[in-house]
Amino acid sequence: MISQSSIAQVFETARVEEVIGDFVQLKKSGSSFKGLSPFSEERSPSFMVSPVKQIWKDFSSGKGGNAVTFLMEHEHFTYPEAIKYLAKKYNIEIEETERTDEEKAQQDVRESLYLVSEYANTYFQKVLHNTNQGKAIGLSYFKERGFTEETIKKFQLGYSLDEWQAFSDEALSKGYKIEFLAATGLTIVKGEKHFDRFKGRVMFPIHSMSGRILGYGGRILTNDKKAAKYLNSPESEIYHKSKVLYGLYYAKQSIAKEDNCYLVEGYTDVIQFHQTGITNVVSSSGTALSADQIRLINRLTNNITVLFDGDAAGVRASLRGIDLILEQGVNVKVCTFPDGEDPDSFSKSNTLEELKEYLSENAKDFIQFKASLLVKEANNDPIKKAETIREIVNSIALIPDQIKREIYIQECARIMDISENVLFSTLAQINKKDSQSASQNYPPPDQQAFQVVKNEPETKRKVDVQFELERKIIEILMLYGDKTEQFDDEMLVEDAASGEMLSEPTKQEARVFEKIYLDLQEDEMQFSNPQFKALYYSIIDKLNQDENFSTKNFVNQLDQDSASTITTILMEDERYNLHDWERNMIVPKEKTDAVAQLVSQTILSLRCHLIDRKVEDYKNEILKNESDSRSIMEDVTDYLGLKMLLSRKLGKVIG
Ligand code: CTP
Ligand code: MN
Repeated sequence: MISQSSIAQVFETARVEEVIGDFVQLKKSGSSFKGLSPFSEERSPSFMVSPVKQIWKDFSSGKGGNAVTFLMEHEHFTYPEAIKYLAKKYNIEIEETERTDEEKAQQDVRESLYLVSEYANTYFQKVLHNTNQGKAIGLSYFKERGFTEETIKKFQLGYSLDEWQAFSDEALSKGYKIEFLAATGLTIVKGEKHFDRFKGRVMFPIHSMSGRILGYGGRILTNDKKAAKYLNSPESEIYHKSKVLYGLYYAKQSIAKEDNCYLVEGYTDVIQFHQTGITNVVSSSGTALSADQIRLINRLTNNITVLFDGDAAGVRASLRGIDLILEQGVNVKVCTFPDGEDPDSFSKSNTLEELKEYLSENAKDFIQFKASLLVKEANNDPIKKAETIREIVNSIALIPDQIKREIYIQECARIMDISENVLFSTLAQINKKDSQSASQNYPPPDQQAFQVVKNEPETKRKVDVQFELERKIIEILMLYGDKTEQFDDEMLVEDAASGEMLSEPTKQEARVFEKIYLDLQEDEMQFSNPQFKALYYSIIDKLNQDENFSTKNFVNQLDQDSASTITTILMEDERYNLHDWERNMIVPKEKTDAVAQLVSQTILSLRCHLIDRKVEDYKNEILKNESDSRSIMEDVTDYLGLKMLLSRKLGKVIG
C-alpha cells in the first residue's frame, strides 16, 4: 500500500500536460493544449488538456479525467502503478507498506507477466555484466559491434546463458510461477521439462511507450544457418507485435520535438543511431509497418522518414508498405543508403554531422521518390509508362488531404513529364472505382465528393467570382478554421522618403479563422450573399468560443436551410469554381504550407476582386459625370497600384 501522504504529494507535483505530453503531441491552443486523441483514429485533434484545471478530455471517445486516470486509460496501469509511475517521473520517494501474500495473489495475469518480464530483464543484464560467459561472449559481441558501455546500459541489453534452463530455474527459485514464465515465452514448457527460449543469445528488451518490458528479441551469436538470426518473444497478453515499435520509449520525446520519426528495420539500427546522436528513431523489427504502429508514431508527429538498407530490390518491395503510411495522412520521406550499407553500419562509420548531412541531402519526399524511380524503370517504354502512371496515382489517391493530392499531381506531372490532366483523370478513375468497391469506412462518405477532379476547360462555367470567393472562405473555415498556421504576411508600409508603398515580409502564427476574420475586417469586406454572410458570422463566432469546433456538430446546430448550404459547399465539386485564379495559383513550396497558402491566396484574390469592383464603380461614376473626375482618376490610380502589388503576391500578371 502506498501511504496517503505520498499519494497527496504525487497529485500536488504532477502536471497533467507534462504527463500526457509524454504520450501525445500537444499544441498550445489558447489557454489549453490540443492533440490527436490517443484513444481513437482521428486525424483532426479533439483531445484537450487544460493546465489550469489539470484535467483532460477526449471528445472523440468521451473519456476524460486527471493525470492518474490518463495513465490508467492509456497505459492500462492500475491505480497504484499510475501513482508509482508519476512518483518516478517526478523523483518523489514513496512510502509503501509491504505487500501481503494475498495482494500478490490478487494481481492479475497481465501484472504477473509484466513482473516476470521485468525480472528477466534484470537477470539478463546481470548475466551480461557479471558472469564470465556473459562478459566473454555477450559483452564482447556488443563491443565488437561498436556499442559503448553507456549504450549497452541505456538499452538494457543482456545475455542469456548458453544453458538449457539456467534462466528458468533461477526465476522459479525466486518464486516466479512457471505458467507466467511460459505465457511470456521466456520459458518453453514440454511436458515435465522446461527450457530457456533464448539460450545462448544476446538480448534486446522491447519496451512499451512508457518503458515497461513487453518482450525480447534475442540474437544468435553463431553462424548457424539453420537457426533464426533473431528469435522474438511470442505474442502474449502483454506483447502484441503489431502494436509495438522498438525504441519508441527512448525516442518519443525527440520524435515530438523534432517533429519527425526515422523508421529503420532493425534493433541495431536504432541503437547505433542513438549512439551517434540521432534519437528520433524506431524500428518495426523487420516486419511491414502496421496501421497500429503508424498511429503510435502519429500521436507524436505527422512526419515519417523511412530509411532503407542499401539494396535496390528491398526498396522496390517496400514501396507498397509505404502506401499504408500515406493512407494515414502522414507525410512520408524515404532515404536509401549506399550499396551494402544499412543505417547501423552507416551511422557507425560516420560522425553525427556527416550522418545528419547525409539524411538531409538524401531524404526525398516519397511520392517524388517513387515517381522518379518508376520513370527510370519505365525507360520510355510506353506500356510500362502507363502502368507507372497508374501506380503512382494509386499512391496519391490514398492521401486523405485534397490539397496535398493536388500538389502531388502537379509535382508528378513535372517529374514524369506528362500532363496534369492525364494524372487528374487517372485519379478520378481510381476514385470512382474505389467508391464503388469501397468498404463501409473508406473513403468516408463525406469525402467522396472531394475526390472529383478538375473539369476540362471546355466545360468551364462562367463564374461569379465574388460568390465563389465567399463560398471558398466558408469552405476554408469549415475545413481548417481551427488550425493554427504560419502565415507569410507582408505588411504594406509607406516609404518615408518617396511616399511609395512598399511591402515588408513578416511571419505570423495565427489560427486560420482569426487570420481570415482580421484580414477581411481590415479590408472592410462585406459578404454580398446574405446566407454566406450569416454563416460566416456564426462560424467565426463558434470557432471563437469553442475550442473543439467540429464540422459535424456545427452543421447539426444549424437551421435546415443553412445546414444544406454548408453541406453543399463541403460536398460539391469545388474544382469548377475559382478556375481562373486557381490556374495561376503558385504551387506551395512546402506541402505543410498548403493551408496557409490557400488562405492567403483566397484573401488576396478577394482583395483583388474588390479592387476591380471599386475601379469599375469609379469608371461608371466618371461616365455618368456625377463628380469631379480628376480626383476619381487619382483614386483609381491608387487602387490600380495596390492591385498590382497584390497581384504580384498572387503570382499573376495583372491583365
Ligand atoms: N528479424 C527477425 N528475425 C530474423 C531476422 C530479422 O525478427 N530472423 C528482425 C529483427 O528485428 C532485426 C530486423 O528484423 O533487427 C532487421 O533484420 P536484419 O537487417 O537482418 O538485422 P539487423 O538488425 O541488421 O541485425 P544484425 O546487424 O545484427 O545482423
Ligand atoms: Mn540490418
